[in-house]
Amino acid sequence: MGLRGLRGRHLLWLADFTPEEITYIVDMALDFKRRFYAGEKIIPVLRGRSIGLLFEKPSTRTRVSLEVAVYQLGAQPIYMSWRELQLGRGETVADTARVLSRYLDALVARVRRHSDLEELARYSTIPVINGLSDLTHPLQALADVMTIREKLGRVKGVKLSFIGDGSDNVLHSLLIVGAKLGMHVTVATPPQLQPHPKVMKVVEEAARESGAVIEIIEDPIEAVRGADVVYTDVWVSMGQEDVAEEKIKLLKRYQVNSKLMDAAGDKAIFMHCLPAKRGQEVTDDVIDGPRSVVWDQAENRLHTHKAVLALLIP
Ligand code: CP
Ligand code: NVA
Repeated sequence: MGLRGLRGRHLLWLADFTPEEITYIVDMALDFKRRFYAGEKIIPVLRGRSIGLLFEKPSTRTRVSLEVAVYQLGAQPIYMSWRELQLGRGETVADTARVLSRYLDALVARVRRHSDLEELARYSTIPVINGLSDLTHPLQALADVMTIREKLGRVKGVKLSFIGDGSDNVLHSLLIVGAKLGMHVTVATPPQLQPHPKVMKVVEEAARESGAVIEIIEDPIEAVRGADVVYTDVWVSMGQEDVAEEKIKLLKRYQVNSKLMDAAGDKAIFMHCLPAKRGQEVTDDVIDGPRSVVWDQAENRLHTHKAVLALLIP
């Protein structure tokens, strides 16, 4: 099963993967979903394996869908809270990586600092998979591409308008994947909240190769014109509580509401990685409305996780 070149690889961000590899992972996720609904809930390609799930921050979707995905692949998930490991008492990330590599077949980690993920990967002999960092959220972006393919039947040329925090980790992953797969990604954000330069560097390179169009502008109404997908995320990410007030003030005019969806036109669907702060970045009528695909999007986390684990674990 799988492209030979994927086995044993870390997934820290999608910048390390080719458009063909990303498409292959999503193809396999769609296949896992089809088989799931055909009654094949358990596909035990990882029988006897143990997958570590290390979380430094809260999680509903990533944690639960990973635990279920691991079980449905015939393996055992082991949830670990960062605080409750010796990490919480100062054991180093490197030593933790060396030890966990002796027990586990892969490690998914949700961390505050992306550099900790890189350190885990440096000292692990098993695949390390990013379950969200301050920089990126690649597992989310894979599920989002899968959802776009299901809903729109294509990815190349699709116009995705992201409205809100330009420095958001989920947006960073959408920019990378959008640039690799030839999408048209327009971001509406205030000048103070621009995407990370390290992300923009790979995005610009990838866009040159794929023909993707990437635009970072200020005006949300202009950004959604002709959109196929209107996407937003919370204004205050986990760990940003100290700058919450300032960010909420900056982002006030970036709410996705029915007026903005009207400006987008009839064909636009609404996506959100969740959790949503209802009444802030999105209104109830939009997230609960007929154009919202957020529950299918959340479900697709399960199917993409199966594909990622089945393909990366040697
Ligand atoms: N979208 C997402 O990653 O959700 P959780 O924080 O609940 O895992
Ligand atoms: N940007 C959000 C995503 C949550 C899935 C955060 O980091 O909190």
